[in-house]
Amino acid sequence: MSRHTPNLQLDEQGHLLHFLTIDGLRRELLTEILDTAEGFTGVSERTIKKVPLCRGKTVANLFFETSTRTRTTFELAEKRLSADVLNLNISASATSKGETLLDTLRNLEAMHMDMFVVRHADSGAAHFIAQHATPGVGVINAGDGRHAHPTQAMLDMFTIRRHKGEFVGLRVAIVGDILHSRVARSQILALNTLGVSEVRVIAPRTLLPHDARKLGVHVYHDLQEGIRDVDVIIMLRLQRERMQGALLPSEHEYFQLYGLTDERLEAADSEAIVMHPGPINRGVEMDSLVADGPRSVILQQVSYGIAIRMAVISMIIGRQNLQAQA
Ligand code: NCD
Repeated sequence: MSRHTPNLQLDEQGHLLHFLTIDGLRRELLTEILDTAEGFTGVSERTIKKVPLCRGKTVANLFFETSTRTRTTFELAEKRLSADVLNLNISASATSKGETLLDTLRNLEAMHMDMFVVRHADSGAAHFIAQHATPGVGVINAGDGRHAHPTQAMLDMFTIRRHKGEFVGLRVAIVGDILHSRVARSQILALNTLGVSEVRVIAPRTLLPHDARKLGVHVYHDLQEGIRDVDVIIMLRLQRERMQGALLPSEHEYFQLYGLTDERLEAADSEAIVMHPGPINRGVEMDSLVADGPRSVILQQVSYGIAIRMAVISMIIGRQNLQAQA
C-alpha cells in the first residue's frame, strides 16, 4: 500500500478532499480546522444537539480495528451534523470471510456513501481507500497502523490552544511508546507546523524510532530531565499489541522510570497540562492521582474530539456540496 501521498487530500485550491495525514498540510489549514471546531463546541452543549450541515449525506464508519473513543466521537460528530450513519465492524464480518478491502469498498460505494471514516491496523489503508474511492467521496483516516491519526492530533492541538492560547513559545513533551504510536507521529507534525518552540520526546531507546531526531524533536531518555519547564505533557499508552519481542523489562519497571506521578510533575512548568489520547493504563504510564488531578485535561480531549471531527467532516462535505453546485 502506498503511504506517502499527502497531496491526495487537497484539491487545487488547497481545500480538503480527504483527511489522511498532517504531513503536507499548511499552518493556515490546521488553524482553519481549529477555528471551525471552535464554532462547533457549542452544539454539544445545546438542548437540541444538532445542526443540519450534513443532512442527506451518508457516512460509513469502517472500523477494521477496535476503538471506543474514536469510533463513538466520530459517530456523535456525524449525527450532530445530521448525517445518516452506517457503522461497520469489519473485522467481524467481510474480511474474515476473505473479501478484499477493495471489494468491501466497491460494495459500499454501490450503496452511495458520501464519506468513509477508516480505522485499520495497516499503515496506508486510508490512503489506499482514498486512492480507489469514486471521485467526490471523502475519506478520513481514523488511525492506520503506526502511521497517522490526524483527527486525534488535531483534537490535541485544540486542547492545547484552549488552555495555552498560543502555540508559539510552548514546550511540549511526548512521553512513552513513540515507536508504535501513530498519535505521536501526527502530533509532532502538527506541533511543528503550528510553530511551538520545542517538541521533546521522552522514551527508553527501545521505544523510539532510530531516526527520531529527523521528526524534528529533541530526544530525552530521562523523564525528569525531559519534562523540565515544559508547558504540555502528553503521555502515551504502551502499544503492547504492536510490540514484537521483549522491548520492555516489565510494566512495573517502566512505571518506575517513565510513569508520571505528582512528585515528578513538579519539574514541569507550574501551569503545565497533562494529556493522554486514551485508553490510559493507570499505574503504567501514569499514577491515578495525576490522571484524575487538577492538571489533567484528558476528559476535555474526549469532548473536543467531537468538535474537531465535526469540523473536518463539515469542511470535506462543504467542499463536496460546492463541487456539486458548480
Ligand atoms: C489511540 C489510537 O488508537 O491510536 N487512541 C485513540 O485513538 N483514542 C492511542 C492508543 O490506542 O493508545
